[in-house]
Amino acid sequence: MKISLHYYSGAGNTEFIAKRMAKSFEDNFCSIHITRVTADNIKTTIEDFDILGIGFPIYFRDAPELIYDLVRNLDGKSKSIFFFATKGLYSGNAVKNIMAFSITQNFQPIGSIEFFMPGTDFLTLFAKKSSHTEKLLKRIHSRDIDNKIKNFAARIQNSLPAKIPYKKWYTFFDEYTVKKLERMYDNHHKNYIDQFYSNPEICIECMACTRGCPRNNITFDGHIKFGTNCDVCFRCINHCPPESIQIGNITKGNARYNKVELL
Ligand SMILES: Cc1cc2nc3c(=O)[nH]c(=O)nc-3n(C[C@H](O)[C@H](O)[C@H](O)COP(=O)(O)O)c2cc1C
Ligand code: SF4
Ligand code: SF4
Repeated sequence: MKISLHYYSGAGNTEFIAKRMAKSFEDNFCSIHITRVTADNIKTTIEDFDILGIGFPIYFRDAPELIYDLVRNLDGKSKSIFFFATKGLYSGNAVKNIMAFSITQNFQPIGSIEFFMPGTDFLTLFAKKSSHTEKLLKRIHSRDIDNKIKNFAARIQNSLPAKIPYKKWYTFFDEYTVKKLERMYDNHHKNYIDQFYSNPEICIECMACTRGCPRNNITFDGHIKFGTNCDVCFRCINHCPPESIQIGNITKGNARYNKVELL
């Protein structure tokens, strides 16, 4: 059995799970081709594979746009598909929504799984040296990740059709109140976008940020520049080795989250 595993990841949580999953599946029943989703590879082909697996972080109770773009560009031709998501707290109907969307693209869902991980949206907003930050950084909520993946592998190996989860009743509150408040006060972090910068006195020109940005939003022209095509995935800011990247004054002196594999 051949699986094509595509994952989107900002700070690294989903990448961590994707790699663990790939290893476990390969040790047990299949070969895996693994790809990190960026704006450069959302047009892909799955002809050579039996199953497509897709992983993503929950962003505002949904899957990131690039994941929808990836599925939108494919004709599933009745092939099996599964999803895995990482979340800080609460996923709303994200998995249900992307599963239902995959059916409109002729895929047959065979399963989904979610993992609690440290929430990357607020980690960089906490002071580096606070007991709260240390607790968050040390915590991987889904403690038994390997067992969860092993059980999920058995489901994927059987490839039986999976039901789309029901809409969660309490998401009514989310759709009608929380989303409205977000749009009014936070605008989905979009007010951060024009505040990203790199301090040229600290930058070591390693280009980790330009290479890692899923949107090609960072360029180097004598110094690092940020465009406005940003998912606010927090990858650049967390993975800049000398911590040269900041969001205005919001993140100065605050925690960085880039060693997820060591947690
Ligand atoms: C912009 C943004 C929005 C987020 N929204 C949610 C959310 O609605 N619900 C949730 O549980 N976690 C949310 N999170 C937390 C991430 O889903 C979680 O930390 C995930 O594991 C990050 O994965 P990554 O490191 O692969 O990007 C959000 C994170 C970001 C950066
Ligand atoms: S510029 Fe935006 S999209 Fe690119 S890595 Fe940074 S936060 Fe993510
Ligand atoms: S990752 Fe940081 S140090 Fe490296 S080029 Fe980007 S801003 Fe400069």
